[in-house]
Amino acid sequence: MCGIVAYVGHREACPLVIKGLKRLEYRGYDSAGVALMNGHGLKIYKKKGKVAALEHELDGKETHATIGMGHTRWATHGEPNDVNAHPHYSFHRKLAIIHNGIIENYAAIKQALLKKGHTFSSDTDTEVLGQFIEDIWEHQAGASNAGTLEDAVRLALQEVVGAYAIVIMNEADPTQLIAARKGSPLVIGVGENEFFLASDATPIVEYTKDVIYLNDYEIAVIKDGTLKVVTLDNTTTTPYVHKIELELEAIEKGGFDHFMLKEIFEQPRSIADSMRGRVQADDATLQLGGLRDYLDKLAKSKRIVIIGCGTSWHAGLVAEYIFEELARIPVEVEYASEFRYRNPIIKEGDIVIAISQSGETADTLAAIELAKSKGATIFGVCNVVGSSIARATDAGAYTHAGPEIGVASTKAFTAQVTVLTLMALAAAKRKGTISDSLFRQLLAELESIPAKVEKVLQAADKIKEIAYIFTYARNFIYLGRGLNFPVALEGALKLKEISYIHAEGYPAAEMKHGPIALIDEDMPVVVIATKDSSYEKIVSNIQEVKARKGRVIAITTEGDTHLPGIVDFTIEIPKVHEVLVPLVSVVPLQLLAYDIAVMRGRNVDQPRNLAKSVTVE
Ligand code: M6R
Repeated sequence: MCGIVAYVGHREACPLVIKGLKRLEYRGYDSAGVALMNGHGLKIYKKKGKVAALEHELDGKETHATIGMGHTRWATHGEPNDVNAHPHYSFHRKLAIIHNGIIENYAAIKQALLKKGHTFSSDTDTEVLGQFIEDIWEHQAGASNAGTLEDAVRLALQEVVGAYAIVIMNEADPTQLIAARKGSPLVIGVGENEFFLASDATPIVEYTKDVIYLNDYEIAVIKDGTLKVVTLDNTTTTPYVHKIELELEAIEKGGFDHFMLKEIFEQPRSIADSMRGRVQADDATLQLGGLRDYLDKLAKSKRIVIIGCGTSWHAGLVAEYIFEELARIPVEVEYASEFRYRNPIIKEGDIVIAISQSGETADTLAAIELAKSKGATIFGVCNVVGSSIARATDAGAYTHAGPEIGVASTKAFTAQVTVLTLMALAAAKRKGTISDSLFRQLLAELESIPAKVEKVLQAADKIKEIAYIFTYARNFIYLGRGLNFPVALEGALKLKEISYIHAEGYPAAEMKHGPIALIDEDMPVVVIATKDSSYEKIVSNIQEVKARKGRVIAITTEGDTHLPGIVDFTIEIPKVHEVLVPLVSVVPLQLLAYDIAVMRGRNVDQPRNLAKSVTVE
């Protein structure tokens, strides 16, 4: 969703901000803009469409400045157009503001300002906030207790309901940037006499590794080369400077046509990274540092409730099978967006596991807060280090998949499933519900997964040929049973989000309760039919599809000689223990979706309407 970049220091701000906006393109957006300040005053340039359109707009303009800020907007209030794009001037043009999030009470504030004679050029809640801050500032300036812009920001934000990360430039002070956050991420990069602000560390990493994660209800005031952080109730805090480990190569395409393809091919490494330092198959040890003090609680829990959205929810469904199978703990998996608006029953001894790649998903964050208020212990499984969800949880484990830039989640899914499997194994071991031999076997099998995924990736050309045949299919059905049912859901989600083909995932046996009516010679059916405990059953389901002339693409286990005689196409994967099969069976589905989307000419990394990190509900 929206992206923020700002800079003040000694460098040329405009190219730095534009480059930063490009690094944030992956978040999803529909317009972009910059504000720059130099001897000619505070200037705003903005444009509907991509950052490239904004660059075009800037051609030939006087852009020299050492302070500036930029924004990519994902429309919420008002359609995507030049006027609604950020930054926005305040009413008297003393300030410029950029904003991520939603100001829920903007209509009431706008009414009050309209009564005072204000007019608005955009439909956005952001312009309202900018005018509100300026109004308070001007009002203070006229009073005997004249306040600073910082005071005005603080007072305004005390009145605001909603979520925000904002940055403000002050026309009267070319050294000043004021930023604040509540519910939307904001990272401050600290350099030598220079500061960077961004929605995540990707625009900052090539300049400095020293970053501060602004907390909710904090305001950062950068002025005359110094940084001060205060809370909304005006207490000065001492920010903690983190060293980020992110390397520049991790956020570049590295020779691949798309980030998504790079991330699919990174999985042998990212799965290994999610186990690194945690699994020692040789001596059958498993350690999860972030769970150490909570492992007993997990093992003794009466129930686990897993919450997440999209792909993270699918990883939760896989984990449900694994926790129940190995640790014998009942599991419920729920969409965070539903959980947050119910009155869920949380009992003593319940554990909530929140799964999120970005760690910023608004629905998941809100669901965590609700669960916390009911006394639950919250575990997090996040990819982005220092993210809001990671910080809101009591314990947890990072997935260490590295930055995921493609909107379609791929390596984050396999890393989530890996980490959740480790959690289930650790709980099972502590609880005594797993035999030593199975524990040892699964650790060894886990260590072999990266090589098995590598083998699946070698079938990329064959998958491309199949994708070519089905490029213009209008619908797809994905079927799986047991642990492969969530994989079917994930395969369907991948296809629909990047190719815009309608696709549905079903438990294979459910097909006869409705979806079978859709099957004819035009319907491609992807069936994950690996050799496991439900193999015979799923072969029968395939027969049912074939009897109705459906065209079956089957994901089969290496050495299966039976299915190639029945189905239209097979993609083989190596033999994997049943509990771990999703880690491998999902990979061909990621490639199939990718290839079809590319063949249809879609924007794979930034599909229409989608955002990488969904920070609004
Ligand atoms: O960052 P999160 O894991 O919390 O994101 C959840 C979903 O928005 C995300 O998985 C989304 O469904 C992806 N586009 C799926 O590819």
